[in-house]
Amino acid sequence: MAKQIGRNEPCWCGSGRKYKVCHAGFDERINSYREKECIVPPHKIIKTPEQIEKIKESCKINIAILDYLEEHIHEGMNTAEIDRIVHDMTVERGGIPAPLNYEGFPYSVCTSLNDQVCHGFPSEDVVLKSGDIINVDCSTILDGYFSDSSRMFCIGEVSPEKEKLVRVTRECVEKGLAEVKPWGFLGDMGQAVHDHAAANGYTVVREIGGHGVGLEFHEEPWVGYNSRRGEEMLMVPGMIFTIEPMVNMGKQAIYTDPVNEWEVYTKDHLPSAQWEIMVLVTEDGHEVLCW
Ligand code: MF3
Ligand code: CO
Repeated sequence: MAKQIGRNEPCWCGSGRKYKVCHAGFDERINSYREKECIVPPHKIIKTPEQIEKIKESCKINIAILDYLEEHIHEGMNTAEIDRIVHDMTVERGGIPAPLNYEGFPYSVCTSLNDQVCHGFPSEDVVLKSGDIINVDCSTILDGYFSDSSRMFCIGEVSPEKEKLVRVTRECVEKGLAEVKPWGFLGDMGQAVHDHAAANGYTVVREIGGHGVGLEFHEEPWVGYNSRRGEEMLMVPGMIFTIEPMVNMGKQAIYTDPVNEWEVYTKDHLPSAQWEIMVLVTEDGHEVLCW
């Protein structure tokens, strides 16, 4: 539990204002949930307005890269070219690709095709062909602040089944987002994601989820999408996290490539899709920072 701050002392948030006129009421409200045994956020994941501005600058690079790829990704291109584009666009804008060397990840971006669930390695040997669906997961560090988002791209003529998976996964993110508001629970969002996937006959990966983000690449909380309304962490203004469900056309089971220990596939080798957005909880709802 955080140490007690005197009501006339400076607030923990760094605003310079007295605690009693700054976050005292906010902390009291959080404490009332803590007393009810709810999972409540620690102060360190509540972002200040200054931090939010910096994080938004990082997000701009991520968005610019994904916008560029939306225009330029094409059949016949290999995924190492995507890696080069992401690396160069990030560096040109003064950023660092967050995946590069993150826990040993050897590339600047994750490119996950078809039955690849996530963390796909860009490669000269992976050439995009008509009918492929690909997730490009882009993350940037700018001035020490992190952004993280991913989009799906359909290459050439994609089957109606795959196209539907891509569309429904995006809708899952939108349905989850609609549940993001202060003093709700992450489980409200998680259940909305899950229920929409399940209503379409799909499954949502359990083992890998979203995360708090901004001051670090992966912060508290871990964000799952098989959760229930009213459960998981309380959402409060100033929290930033990702909504990034991996939705499988077939069964939920996945495995990690035993050789490189990164690339994740569906066990049944049916396609998987993922969209990722970064969302800020505001005083009256939410703001999408990155998509
Ligand atoms: N962008 C991924 C995420 O959503 C990060 C994967 S870790 C990496 O959390 F090293 F593969 F980049
Ligand atoms: Co993420």
